[in-house]
Amino acid sequence: MSDKLVLVLNGPNLNLLGKREPGIYGSATLADIEASLQERGQELGITVELRQSNHEGALVDGLHEAQERGAAAVILNAGAYTHTSVALLDAIRAITVPVIEVHLSNPHAREAFRHTSWIAPAAKGTIAGFGADSYLLALEAAARL
Ligand code: DQA
Repeated sequence: MSDKLVLVLNGPNLNLLGKREPGIYGSATLADIEASLQERGQELGITVELRQSNHEGALVDGLHEAQERGAAAVILNAGAYTHTSVALLDAIRAITVPVIEVHLSNPHAREAFRHTSWIAPAAKGTIAGFGADSYLLALEAAARL
């Protein structure tokens, strides 16, 4: 049996993880997160593919691709687009692949403008506030779907 596929989509500024506001987002880079997801994915029988884009439409394309490729789940850290993007909300609603929203920080413990997620109503669930472990916890959740 072939492995399940999980796409991990990352939005704007997450390419700078490790250097970007480490007091909030931690010292792990996106490459570190990718390596730990791939290692855990191997144990769980899941193929993990990670992408990052600073462009909203590329994230929409990634969601469509997940559907076309029959992915088991998408793990989505939409970064600041979480708080602005009707296009991502619509894209999640347009596909049947379950989308797990993740955040390194806990947006509810931060500025008021981060308290609203446009994508949360369409997500299967949300994991936030555990730093880089938010991604690993999301992968565990994806494995159980
Ligand atoms: C974030 C939280 C967002 O509010 C912020 O814009 C980000 C990162 C997180 O992972 O904690 O870019 O999604």
